[in-house]
Amino acid sequence: MKQGDIKRIFNPAQIAETVERLARQINRDYKGREVILVGCLTGAFVFMADLMRNLQIEATCDFIRVSSYEDRMTAGEISLESDLARPVGGGNVIVVEDIVDTGQTMKFIMNHLREKGAASIEVCSLLYKESDRSTLPKEDIRYLGLVVPDVFVVGYGIDYAQKFRTLNYIGSIEPS
Ligand code: IMP
Repeated sequence: MKQGDIKRIFNPAQIAETVERLARQINRDYKGREVILVGCLTGAFVFMADLMRNLQIEATCDFIRVSSYEDRMTAGEISLESDLARPVGGGNVIVVEDIVDTGQTMKFIMNHLREKGAASIEVCSLLYKESDRSTLPKEDIRYLGLVVPDVFVVGYGIDYAQKFRTLNYIGSIEPS
């Protein structure tokens, strides 16, 4: 699998425009309130870095890592690999994710944050994959960037077998 096999879906300008739109929505909704951004490692770190540079509200950030597809047998078996560094009890949390596919990962993370006592939890996902495997409706994602068809996407922090995170665009590949 090499870069030449990637079909471009979103160019850097489209991504930047989307990130700015999401940040504007968050700035408006959380005006005067403090927010805790919880980034999902590893795929969301590029998106989160750009998103937070567009925020004017007071925001702190933390990260969480759950098992990826590579490390688990089925989509249902999700486990926590690395927890937040600080407590979120009573805080307004926005979970920042690169892509929601089946929604199992996001549901797991939201449940975990609920158990930790977050006062409010919203989701900000750059991408949403439309498929019949979905368990999390689009409408449940308060801050949703772009919808992609049921393809495997890479770039802008998103990987295939740890590769292609460095691309400044988002494209699709056919995993071998
Ligand atoms: P879900 O639990 O099925 O919603 O999967 C979400 C996680 O799977 C994301 O955080 C990604 O890490 C990974 N993922 C899902 N679809 C893709 C893709 O097309 N490319 C790369 N990673 C993906």
